[in-house]
Amino acid sequence: MDFQEMILSRRSIRKYINKAIPKEDITKMLEAAMAAPSAVAKDPWFFFVVAKRVLLDELAEVLPHGKMLKQAPAAVLVCGDMDKTYLGNEGEKGYLVQDCSAAVENLMLSATGLGIGSVWLGVYPRKDRMEGISRLFKLDKSRVPVAVVSLGYPGETRPAGSRFSDDKVSWIE
Ligand SMILES: Cc1cc2nc3c(=O)[nH]c(=O)nc-3n(C[C@H](O)[C@H](O)[C@H](O)COP(=O)(O)O)c2cc1C
Repeated sequence: MDFQEMILSRRSIRKYINKAIPKEDITKMLEAAMAAPSAVAKDPWFFFVVAKRVLLDELAEVLPHGKMLKQAPAAVLVCGDMDKTYLGNEGEKGYLVQDCSAAVENLMLSATGLGIGSVWLGVYPRKDRMEGISRLFKLDKSRVPVAVVSLGYPGETRPAGSRFSDDKVSWIE
């Protein structure tokens, strides 16, 4: 499969078979995540890999649309570090959320390439979810939870497809 096809084949996978993901594959996904672009190359991200059943179940309670975590063999919590991020002079969190989002997408594309299903579970900017996760993971004040990625070998198939839409593009030539 070429790279373009792989990008188009990534779909949110919310049903999983009961099969553990090898640590080496999770490490590959993290390597892809950490290869994402980041403002001023600050790499302000931090990852928690969760493969402990009881914690995955607790995560599912904190995330109202994260019930698939009860089936998932693993998940990755992506946080940004306020002490490391490039703040510039403007936004409250600087580029933290954008940097972490780029890492999330790289992680998910890497999972697709490895035959592993994934779904992005939004955390930031929902206060209740951020607080719930900060409590569960005992996060330092400087760590901002941005997203959780639920992972597992697919227990459902979802068709690849293009969402290309001409009316979302203006060509200026
Ligand atoms: C910021 C963000 C938050 C999301 N939160 C959730 C979520 O809480 N639960 C969920 O099942 N899917 C969540 N999704 C996945 C979207 O629903 C999904 O990407 C979208 O419907 C497009 O489908 P696809 O991923 O199969 O292309 C989220 C996606 C993004 C980018």
